Amino acid sequence: MYQAPRGTSDILPGEQVYWRYVEQQAVAICQLYGYERIDLPAFEDTRLFSRSIGEETDIVQKEMYTFEDKGGNRLTLRPEGTASVCRAFLEHGMHNLPGPVRLYYIAPVFRYERPQAGRYRQHHQFGYEAIGDDDPALDAEVIDMAWQFLVSLGLSRLSLHLNSIGCKECRPGYMAALKDYYAGHISDLCPDCRARLQRSPLRLLDCKKPPCQQLADSAPASSDYLCLPCQAHFSSLKGYLELLGLAFVMDHRLVRGLDYYTRTVFEVQPEVDGAQSTLGGGGRYDNLIGELGGKPTPALGFAAGMERIVLNLKRQGIAVPPLPRPRVFIAYAGDEARGEAIKLGATLRQAGIGVIQASGGKTLKAQLRQANALDVRYAVIIGEEEARTGTVVLRDMATSQQKSVPRSQLQQLLAEPAA
Ligand code: HAM
Repeated sequence: MYQAPRGTSDILPGEQVYWRYVEQQAVAICQLYGYERIDLPAFEDTRLFSRSIGEETDIVQKEMYTFEDKGGNRLTLRPEGTASVCRAFLEHGMHNLPGPVRLYYIAPVFRYERPQAGRYRQHHQFGYEAIGDDDPALDAEVIDMAWQFLVSLGLSRLSLHLNSIGCKECRPGYMAALKDYYAGHISDLCPDCRARLQRSPLRLLDCKKPPCQQLADSAPASSDYLCLPCQAHFSSLKGYLELLGLAFVMDHRLVRGLDYYTRTVFEVQPEVDGAQSTLGGGGRYDNLIGELGGKPTPALGFAAGMERIVLNLKRQGIAVPPLPRPRVFIAYAGDEARGEAIKLGATLRQAGIGVIQASGGKTLKAQLRQANALDVRYAVIIGEEEARTGTVVLRDMATSQQKSVPRSQLQQLLAEPAA
């Protein structure tokens, strides 16, 4: 027997009600804030991701699904969405559009991680990007949108974590301070962090190993090393967040697991804490589009993990609206009735009434058992007698009450919810 690959899962019909709800709220929030959908290829040139996300990150070093296709091209299944959006932005000349350009996506994402609750090798992200403006008011909009999206789902007991990690001008000073700090603790670092210290000290703050986390707690804070423009940007952002009534926690250790970030970084955490519990995160990446060959274009965005949202909807016992499904099952007995049942099913569907049609040579009793399992409101039964007389038996599945009804009246009876 085959099984789904480790770290992947099937989203079975019974789960879809959660997924469609999250997706529907995501689309609704994007419409509210003026974001347009973009769909992107599931794989890209490997270099796009290694350049954007950063050679020193766990994602690039350990987690990418990279392969060579039959034409000898090195490709990678997307480990995130931002790099692809920026690639598409440049490829399609979107810098000529009046900015900021606001785009969103809902897509599967692939990372070779150690699977556990809330962490998978294939997960799904709802993400969005606002490209072409460095105004801190846009940062506030992106953060507000993330928050309103999660709240619109009914989620509560969330916290917003915020930090600023500076820009090209002030980052080197901060990196030097980090190197200095860690120089005195090298023997306490994990091997990965020891190797990364010189090239990429920011990554040490993001390490999930407990001894490294402990060291990160007392490490210098990036917000103490910001240059004047970054300070001004961050303080305006905090002002806008206050204006919007969004409470946040300053989190000096928050640097995010991708290298492209500048200035603002943020995450939304549920009450139950843990590395794999973050519902979503994002931030500014003002240098990325320039580094990918475009003219320097400030931008920022956010992405949330759909699996983690569904997990939290269930944990918090949030009732989601049911998905529309047929309310009518058509059962029949006998050959003559079968033809009539098929015709009736077609007529009802044309009138917009959802119908599940009995099939196979099941007894009437077995068909009604199936109707019961499908949880339909009505069974419409056609036997020899009904086939001859142009009637049906209409059975209310909740009360088991049955009545004979002329077929001409059926449409009207079924269309009325209280019939
Ligand atoms: P990220 O923090 O790597 O950011 O991923 C975003 C969210 O995806 C996480 O907060 C988490 O909910 C979910 N997620 C990540 N990895 C997994 C996994 N293995 N299993 C389940 N869920 C996962 C980004 O990807 C950035 N592109 C976000 C962004 C957009 N920054 C700017 N724009």
